Amino acid sequence: INEIMVVKSDHIYVERDGLLELSGRRFISDKVTESIIERIVAQVGRRIDKSQPLVDARLPDGSRVNAIIPPLAIKGPCLTIRKFPAHRFTMDDLIEMKSMTGSGAMFLRACVIDRKNVLVSGGTGTGKTTMLNVLSSFIPHKDRIITIEDTTELQLHQDHVVTLETKQANVEGTGAYTIRDLVKNALRMRPDRIIVGECRGAEAVDMLQAMNTGHDGSMTTVHANSAEEVIKRLEVLVLMAVELPVVSIHRQIASAIDVIVQITRLPGGRRACTQISEVAGIDPDTHQLIIHDIYNFRDGTELRPTGYLPTFVEPLIEKKLLQLEFLYGHADASGSSNGRPASPAAPRRKG
Ligand SMILES: Nc1ncnc2c1ncn2[C@@H]1O[C@H](COP(=O)(O)OP(=O)(O)OP(=O)(O)O)[C@@H](O)[C@H]1O
Ligand SMILES: [Mg+2]
Repeated sequence: INEIMVVKSDHIYVERDGLLELSGRRFISDKVTESIIERIVAQVGRRIDKSQPLVDARLPDGSRVNAIIPPLAIKGPCLTIRKFPAHRFTMDDLIEMKSMTGSGAMFLRACVIDRKNVLVSGGTGTGKTTMLNVLSSFIPHKDRIITIEDTTELQLHQDHVVTLETKQANVEGTGAYTIRDLVKNALRMRPDRIIVGECRGAEAVDMLQAMNTGHDGSMTTVHANSAEEVIKRLEVLVLMAVELPVVSIHRQIASAIDVIVQITRLPGGRRACTQISEVAGIDPDTHQLIIHDIYNFRDGTELRPTGYLPTFVEPLIEKKLLQLEFLYGHADASGSSNGRPASPAAPRRKG
């Protein structure tokens, strides 16, 4: 079980092995649920009542708690607990669980080492943070890394990591420090790379700016269901911060983001990387962003190279971070043939 969700006192769900199920457990009444919520949030020095009906907090063991009570929660108090994973998955785990292929992993590793700006996209609980953590593990130890999150979830093992966490407003409603504040501050800390746990607001504009001003190799996640939807989502987030014509936003996105990694929860509960795409520029005629899939899930069962060669592929080959065969679909990371016919799409250059 990695998640517990109290929807109503007699309606408690758990997520077990990726699937939601009714737990069969119950609290006696909403009053009892509410007093349990009070006890849990008191542990971390927080209070919940009618005037502050919402608490989002991290427990001493690292688990994430969200509690919301009436009048915000119409049907009664709700509690959501995400247990802190005792161990974060590695890329090998993701390959083992068929969430990633060896070839895809090799390609992403090369992208991270060669300082591509990567954006991980997926729905709620699809494994965005997990993927961000795995990708971060490829960052060379010599780099100065700053991580920024609402609640610290990333577990980086490099030596030189500055970990920043946002702070909610106090009872008087002041003293809040947002992701946005922390990204701005991080830029003054001479980072090599900035990793933002999730962009869900105005900070998207600061993140794009950071990526555009020499902090190559930065990474973040957004909530979207496809590489194409990421662009729509980023437009909305940027517009929360500044009035900008969509064309300018697209230009910023095009120069900031190199690679989009899409994660999807498949029917049956398996989470899989379903798309790895390049943001390859802007079409001079239509002014639309050009997005090319480098890998996708065309046959619905496995992530496969499309045959498209990203515009930045040459340095990856020269630096021996990648063998071209991976992108043709002839070989997997172990170098052996995967026994399937090569991708039907003929490899082609950008354009
Ligand atoms: N590839 C995977 N296969 C199976 N379980 C996974 C996979 N990736 C992540 N999980 C598990 O799913 C849960 C959610 O993962 P994670 O926190 O990475 O998702 P998220 O998309 O960041 O969620 P949120 O939208 O809440 O930020 C965790 O318990 C994690 O261990
Ligand atoms: Mg997350």
